[in-house]
Amino acid sequence: MASTSTAPPIKRAWWKESSVYQIYPASFKDSNGDGIGDIPGIISELDYIKNLGVDIVWLSPILQSPQVDMGYDISNYYEIHPPYGTLRDVDALIEGLHARGLKYVMDLVTNHTSDQHEWFKQAISSPQNPYRNWYIWKKPKYDADGTPQPPNNWRSHFGGSAWTLDPQSNEYYLHLYAKEQPDLNWDNPDVRAEVHRIVRHWLDKGVDGFRIDVINFISKDPAFPDAPITDPSQKWQDGSKYYACGPKLHDYLRELGSILKEYDAFSVGEMPCVSDPAEILKAVGFDRGELSMVFHFEIMDIDHPPNADKYLPYPFTLPTLKRLVSKWQTFMHDNSGWNALYIENHDQGRSISRLTLPHNNTTTPRTITPHHRTLAGQMLATFLALQSGTPFIYQGQELGMINVSPHWTIHDFRDIEILNHWQELCERYPNDNNVVQERALREYRLKSRDNARTPMQWDASEPWAGFIMPATAATNESGGGVKPWIGIHEDYKEWNAARQVGDEKSVYGYWKRVLGVRKAWGDIFVYGDYGLVDGGDERVFVYKREIRGGDGDGQGVRGGIAVVVLNFWEGEVEWVVPGDEDDNGMGEAVRRVLEGGKVVLGNYEGQRIETGKGKVVLRPLEAFVVVLAEGE
Ligand code: NOJ
Repeated sequence: MASTSTAPPIKRAWWKESSVYQIYPASFKDSNGDGIGDIPGIISELDYIKNLGVDIVWLSPILQSPQVDMGYDISNYYEIHPPYGTLRDVDALIEGLHARGLKYVMDLVTNHTSDQHEWFKQAISSPQNPYRNWYIWKKPKYDADGTPQPPNNWRSHFGGSAWTLDPQSNEYYLHLYAKEQPDLNWDNPDVRAEVHRIVRHWLDKGVDGFRIDVINFISKDPAFPDAPITDPSQKWQDGSKYYACGPKLHDYLRELGSILKEYDAFSVGEMPCVSDPAEILKAVGFDRGELSMVFHFEIMDIDHPPNADKYLPYPFTLPTLKRLVSKWQTFMHDNSGWNALYIENHDQGRSISRLTLPHNNTTTPRTITPHHRTLAGQMLATFLALQSGTPFIYQGQELGMINVSPHWTIHDFRDIEILNHWQELCERYPNDNNVVQERALREYRLKSRDNARTPMQWDASEPWAGFIMPATAATNESGGGVKPWIGIHEDYKEWNAARQVGDEKSVYGYWKRVLGVRKAWGDIFVYGDYGLVDGGDERVFVYKREIRGGDGDGQGVRGGIAVVVLNFWEGEVEWVVPGDEDDNGMGEAVRRVLEGGKVVLGNYEGQRIETGKGKVVLRPLEAFVVVLAEGE
């Protein structure tokens, strides 16, 4: 088989060949009947995770925290939040994971702490306190009446100003998130030394790496200038230009990277507010000595209006998704970078509810017909996990969980982001503006973070789907009356783990197969290049992965081409294979694979590939993968 690939030599790494399962501890499994998931609950499901076929488990924060932002506000980096368990439980968790050949990735949240952290308590106690300079303090500006005003116009990610006044010292402190999450001053070497100590402490305890929260916000422009007015309807503006990827970021990342390297540790940094892959490459370039990979937000922001409130409607088209995916795929591959692949996590709506093209695509709620839901979850699994990069699966994604129901009112939401947004909205439109409020609620049910935070659905048992473990639900003090901290999805009788594990045709069973295919054809899917086929089609997403085989550089590469065919629409589609000259000769390669290759995965039986007629007939949400190995 002739190959057109001009890929650079491959650079192997264990974390490239792995996939990651993310756990949101509060919503995973509650072992003691208090309505909050916990570490013993996680330990009780390690076989479930192992059986899925992932390699790494990442837990959202479990350290001591007042939980203003669900643990992303840490008050002690060396202790566990008591409702989640104890340090002993963490030891047992690490042991249980390692015994199964799984690695443990911990969430490292050090752009900010909780305002209840001892460092901040000290810092706010007096400008002379040695911890004062661990945070970021500025003198007020004054308005015409002499009232103190924040030092600049930056907006907090949770609404309002990013500055809060400490009346005692008449100075403002910076918090890019809630006022209870003051930003640490990374320009202070003592802060960095302490972060390094925390990192070493946990690595020495057996942690295998870190997911690092908003890591590109740690270096701010020291002049703290006003942000440009990008949303004239708002008082406070997006200041990310002055704090995302700031002047010292890569110095600080190299310091961290050298520690991670000593331990051969995994790292994935979270980097919001960046759309230039060259900027992210500085952190993930293979020889940069910084991070393994980064979560960018360009794909997940696809349904957010640019420079405006994220909770305004903003429909997207499939060609836009293709353009964004292809941009990151091609750039990272061609420049020896690496992608972290995700379409769900604890900050995003569920992908079936958000990224597919239901019949009622133009209206909200966008809903896939229930009997198509399994297909949708399977199609998206194929889409995600066979791209170039490390796939991340968020708890419940492997079961095809979907967004909260249309019956959710504002009283059902728990997330600080939504509650603040709602308050601002009601202040702005005080006369109970139903149209605005209803629109906001619809958008919350589509994009808000709580969509992903409803409890895991383990089985069909009433009333809490096995999330609260049965023995304790029956015996806790209130006789089983405790409720989960956030509402459970009412579809749990049909959509739960017990029904899916062991069923090859379920979403869970299919995820196992996808991850198996990714491993079986590792050189193609992990290290191959990526090519988009037919970028303009509004319903069908087709991409090609290819690697040239041989012993070049002594790497023993098993060459071949794979074609991944995905119908994002819930109707039947006839996809016309591009002509030989189209897409830089891609049509010719695709035709060759479809004709001569082997179908290695599909969510329907019997694919309708009619290359003689130049077409493929795809059923609703159909996905399949054809591989043509070199020499076959
Ligand atoms: C990103 C986390 O994923 C999110 O949940 C949190 O609210 C912010 N960072 C602040 O830590």
